[in-house]
Amino acid sequence: MTMKKVVLAYSGGLDTSCAVRWLGERYGVEVVCFSAFLGEARSPSVLRKRAFAGGASRIYIEDLKDEFAHDFILPALWAHARYEGKYPLATALGRPLIAKHLVRIAQKEKADAVSHGCSGKGNDQVRIEVGVRTLDPSLKIVAPLREWEFQSREEEMDYAKVNKIPVEATKKSPYSIDQNIWGVSIEAGILENPWNEPPEEAYRITRSPSRAPRTSKYLNLDFQNGVPVRLNGVKMSLVELIEKITSLAGQYGIGRMDQMENRLVGIKSRELYEAPAAEVLLLAHAELEGLVMDREFIHYKRVLSEKYAELVYYGLWFSPLKEALDSFFKSNQKRVTGKVRIKLTPGKAICVGKSSPYSLYSEKLATYTAEDQFDRTAAEGFMKIWGLPYEGMKGGKKL
Ligand code: ARG
Repeated sequence: MTMKKVVLAYSGGLDTSCAVRWLGERYGVEVVCFSAFLGEARSPSVLRKRAFAGGASRIYIEDLKDEFAHDFILPALWAHARYEGKYPLATALGRPLIAKHLVRIAQKEKADAVSHGCSGKGNDQVRIEVGVRTLDPSLKIVAPLREWEFQSREEEMDYAKVNKIPVEATKKSPYSIDQNIWGVSIEAGILENPWNEPPEEAYRITRSPSRAPRTSKYLNLDFQNGVPVRLNGVKMSLVELIEKITSLAGQYGIGRMDQMENRLVGIKSRELYEAPAAEVLLLAHAELEGLVMDREFIHYKRVLSEKYAELVYYGLWFSPLKEALDSFFKSNQKRVTGKVRIKLTPGKAICVGKSSPYSLYSEKLATYTAEDQFDRTAAEGFMKIWGLPYEGMKGGKKL
């Protein structure tokens, strides 16, 4: 493969820090680094220092939290997306955003290739590479971790040392972690044996439910056209709101998940997730939608939610079906306007109240009091016709 210039998705971790130098040595290319901030704790000056120590010619550091929240998290919230019923897809949602900006910067820099630090057996390589190829098939893609000779983190650390790349000696940190504002994904180390209970120190942003405050806390959320816009009466940006809920619900140990997950590449993997804001907002949105939408819509949407989560997980963010489903989920969001009250209790968020000007709930129909206005006389005829196809179907036998 002949290349002149490559844009590397750069996290500043051990893998990508080695990759900067390795790309230069192996392919003789100019390496431009690109770091997207999606909510992980990182220092721009450290990133710069490491990238340049590896031989990068330039580094782009961009805070993309706002775009991430509006163009990636919000559609997933509207879709009620959870892979295999649990994982709210934090990592999976971040990858297509990174792919998109890798392509943008590669085009701006007139680079002929992009690169990333994903391992050769995970989902993230698929999400980035399929994303890049959908957006610009002329770009070459190099995946150093699928090519290089290093067999272990220790060997990479030796390589960094020899090449004077200042990475922290993280020999002790046993977990592989990916973090953004929608959640944290934690794997490897002691978690690789599914029998092992996750140790408390594996978690990053949630407190153990057993150490949660004794008294519950209430969150009042205002939704406007499907978008959560106010928390406890205070208007805030989507990013701020997500971060605030993360910290409040995180103190109650809300949003922890331990999942035996089926990767796209066929492997089963054991992953821990922390997603307090996703837990609260997915609950709140679904409860409000449940108030304002009819039965047929709600039941059918569940099927589509599952499919949507699969498409996102499988790296097909830019695919026609995924985009069509986005339009479906968006179609009713005008009605998802109103208020939701969430109670934070140790380990669990509970919806304790909801109201909306678009509510379809009728107390007059539901009540068991004298105020009841439901026409019971119509029930008899309804059942006669509803049961008609089955009449006598199993009849004739004495039970
Ligand atoms: N299993 C998750 C996914 O495929 C997270 C992957 C990244 N996890 C990590 N710990 N680095 O979306």
